[in-house]
Amino acid sequence: ALSGCGRNDDRLVMVTEATFPPYEFREGGKIVGIDVDLMKAVAKKTGRELVVEDMSFDSVIAAVQAGKADVAASGITVTDERKRQVGFSRPYVTAQQVVIVPKDSEIRGSADLKGKRIGVQHGTTGDLYVTKNIREPERFPNGSLAVAALDAGKLDAVVLDGEPSKVHVALHENLVILDEPLTTEEYAIAVNRKNTALLEEINAVIDELRENGGLEKIKAKYVKQ
Ligand code: ARG
Repeated sequence: ALSGCGRNDDRLVMVTEATFPPYEFREGGKIVGIDVDLMKAVAKKTGRELVVEDMSFDSVIAAVQAGKADVAASGITVTDERKRQVGFSRPYVTAQQVVIVPKDSEIRGSADLKGKRIGVQHGTTGDLYVTKNIREPERFPNGSLAVAALDAGKLDAVVLDGEPSKVHVALHENLVILDEPLTTEEYAIAVNRKNTALLEEINAVIDELRENGGLEKIKAKYVKQ
């Protein structure tokens, strides 16, 4: 049973923002993806039923902090500021922020981004990076809306996590991803800081899935090579 985080029942409530393939996205109305399968393994191991709730990305950490959800599994990058708000599991993915541009763009690398119109998903590490290092970005509720604005010529570039970017670019044939990533980051599962028991259970499942190849299997199921 969960203790000290405001919830205590046989459900494991996961919050996420489900427009982030291959980690979480909708397929026939259902939310699926790497994060969902990972949390299904945790739910199974601990004898609970997984319940997935979709919300805006900038609310998932607050939901865990407030005890409205047990975990936020949403391709969440570990940052020092977020570490003060929630507990993080061991990392389960190494990711990058990348730059998406039109094929005929003059932008060849991060140095060319100065003064350009850059789209990001609100509240993400891409948003933080661009705000801090380049300029005030244009913020969108999700990555696909930012990519659609880029495709429509309303932006010069989009900064987004690498794997979702590949999925988006595959759907827009005049867009490409620049070779040079802006950052390297690690994804982890966020839990309420008081819920150390759940954190240990999640870490044990991540360790096990790393050792027995289960994590690679889950990733391969959703990442098209
Ligand atoms: N990795 C980035 C971050 O932690 C973006 C995550 C966005 N996730 C999502 N499900 N939309 O800020």
